[in-house]
Amino acid sequence: MPGYPANQPSSSGAPLACCDEDWEKACQRFETAEVERLKFAKRLAGLGARDWSRDQSVLEIFCGRGNALRVWFELGYSKVSGVDLSRRLLEAYQGPATQLYVGDCRDIKLPTASRDIIAVHGGSHHLPALQTDLPLVFAEVARVLRPGGAS
Ligand SMILES: C[S@@+](CC[C@H](N)C(=O)[O-])C[C@H]1O[C@@H](n2cnc3c(N)ncnc32)[C@H](O)[C@@H]1O
Repeated sequence: MPGYPANQPSSSGAPLACCDEDWEKACQRFETAEVERLKFAKRLAGLGARDWSRDQSVLEIFCGRGNALRVWFELGYSKVSGVDLSRRLLEAYQGPATQLYVGDCRDIKLPTASRDIIAVHGGSHHLPALQTDLPLVFAEVARVLRPGGAS
């Protein structure tokens, strides 16, 4: 697993919403990894991900321990990466090799127009100030997506 780039403070200046030890433990026992993967697989199938080009690069934001990352691999996508605020949850990821970044989805430190698909499977509800934080996340998604990309 690659070294994680250091987390950066959010440009919004808002306090980080997680990641103390109790919070991370709660995240890990929320649902079993298998149940989560089944739920995410069904959701992606419903969106048509089985019919999209597997050449596309995927970024999972709020990727946590990476259950959705594994589903993308199971669907045949290979250019898959993830970003999450919690280093510990990223370290819990068990799956095919991928690039994982410790970072705040309100301020994604990835290049502009660098991904074809950006997905989230549960995460935005953790933002501490939804009204101001969600537009920051959407702006970052729009910036990091390639023109014509899907989110
Ligand atoms: C319900 S979990 C997501 C599970 C994940 N989608 C999966 O496939 O396993 C929510 C995640 O959001 C992350 N998170 C909360 N606030 C964040 C932020 N501002 N930026 C990045 N990640 C954040 C948490 O660390 C946690 O891993």
